[in-house]
Amino acid sequence: SRLLVLHGPNLNLLGTREPEVYGRTTLAEIDAQLRERAERADISIDFLQSNAEHVLIDRIQAAKGDGTGYILINPAALTHTSVALRDALAAVAIPFIEIHLSNPHAREPFRHHSYVSDLAQAVICGFGADGYLHAFDQAQKVLAAAPS
Ligand code: DQA
Repeated sequence: SRLLVLHGPNLNLLGTREPEVYGRTTLAEIDAQLRERAERADISIDFLQSNAEHVLIDRIQAAKGDGTGYILINPAALTHTSVALRDALAAVAIPFIEIHLSNPHAREPFRHHSYVSDLAQAVICGFGADGYLHAFDQAQKVLAAAPS
């Protein structure tokens, strides 16, 4: 079974984007750490970052038929705006963890609502780039327990 990692809008800028909020780790570094852990655990892993809502939605739809057993997703700003992204996650019914580097609940009120949290198995926020590693550990457990 496969693990899919999705990164939403502006996360390609990690490292230089508001580092006091999001840290200095780049997206390439996050993906490299996840890839290394996946290789060690013999889990096949796929990554996509997009600034375009429809590209993320198309990838989620494709996950239904490609053996994806678990999704790690940081929907970024789409968390707070996108019913369409939510509907895609609901449609495929693949378990997922919602990840945020920052803690949106400690920020502006418009970041307090998420369109996907109630569908998520868990939400990890506020741990910076480490949140992805915590999420990976959980994904590994779930994939190990699932029939492949
Ligand atoms: C974010 C939090 C969102 O509110 C914001 O729009 C992002 C990043 C995070 O990882 O902390 O782009 O998802």
